[in-house]
Amino acid sequence: MLQLSPVIAGCMKWGQWGVNYSTAQYLQLIEDCLTNKITSFDHADIYGDYTVEEEFGAALKQKPHLRQQMQLITKCGIRRLTPNRPAHTIHSYDTSRKHIITSAERSLKNLNTDFIDLLLIHRPDPLMDPHEIAEAFDQLKKEGKVLHFGVSNFTPSQMEMMTRVWKVEFNQLEVSVIHLDPFHDGTLDKCIEYAIRPMSWGPLGSGKLHADEPDERGKRILAVAKILAVKYNATVDQVLLAFVFKHPSKIIPVIGSTKIERLKSAYDAAQIDIEREEWFMLWRASKGHEVP
Ligand SMILES: NC(=O)c1ccc[n+]([C@@H]2O[C@H](COP(=O)([O-])OP(=O)(O)OC[C@H]3O[C@@H](n4cnc5c(N)ncnc54)[C@H](OP(=O)(O)O)[C@@H]3O)[C@@H](O)[C@H]2O)c1
Repeated sequence: MLQLSPVIAGCMKWGQWGVNYSTAQYLQLIEDCLTNKITSFDHADIYGDYTVEEEFGAALKQKPHLRQQMQLITKCGIRRLTPNRPAHTIHSYDTSRKHIITSAERSLKNLNTDFIDLLLIHRPDPLMDPHEIAEAFDQLKKEGKVLHFGVSNFTPSQMEMMTRVWKVEFNQLEVSVIHLDPFHDGTLDKCIEYAIRPMSWGPLGSGKLHADEPDERGKRILAVAKILAVKYNATVDQVLLAFVFKHPSKIIPVIGSTKIERLKSAYDAAQIDIEREEWFMLWRASKGHEVP
């Protein structure tokens, strides 16, 4: 099993979909993460409309020895409609063998690396053939281009289908106090059953809880999180992450913050073990009612 850091640095907003960091700023954030034991970085070919991997790779090129200290995760399978990909005529999914291999090879080049630690199928494709995906994975593995494989946003039945032909190691899902579905729809149960390690994207609510004026549900959640933050001498964000860490499937949060202070604080949140009843206080605040 691939060893990842307790939290993963999500790079989606490092470029033009977010703070538009310069190469020097990319390098600084990479180094700061590594210094603070955050060694895993989450990418996708599409981030920044196909630009973030290349920008990250340009930073890595300046200090190539850093590559040995990190794990690079990337994803493939979405074809975005963007001027950067003029051949795409519609936003769509492609999990054909050809697309997976071409995309992974492009990610290798963009990230300026000889191998990818973990490649994920970004979204379930209604036309996906698990055997074809497995063939692509097999070729990439044999060629040493990708070491480990997983999926993202896969439902329990899709995980089951894929697991019959390939050992799926990870499923990256939206999981947080504002997105509770995976706790109830069988997704995390299936992860435990098949020893698939879940990662959560949007673990802090993708910025929704940090809006100037959160909605009623957000206000309820924040009110509880503030009480727990006092008890645990923690920040509200750390409490939101403690909610995710509590699950027995051992979810690894992918933190989308572009600020090292918040990433560091997320790393420390792994030490906070909230009580079961406190977990349900957050659950109730999110749902607006008690469990049945
Ligand atoms: N597999 C998938 O389908 C999928 C989908 C979406 C995302 N992802 C991955 O998951 C990662 C995280 O996703 P995410 O960005 O949606 O989730 P997130 O970590 O829940 O949210 C990060 C956002 O919240 C803001 N934020 C955090 N704490 C804050 C605070 N105390 N005050 C104000 N703003 C705060 C951050 O701003 P600052 O930068 O200013 O801190 C950033 O914009 C992405 O980077 C990507 O790698 C995967």
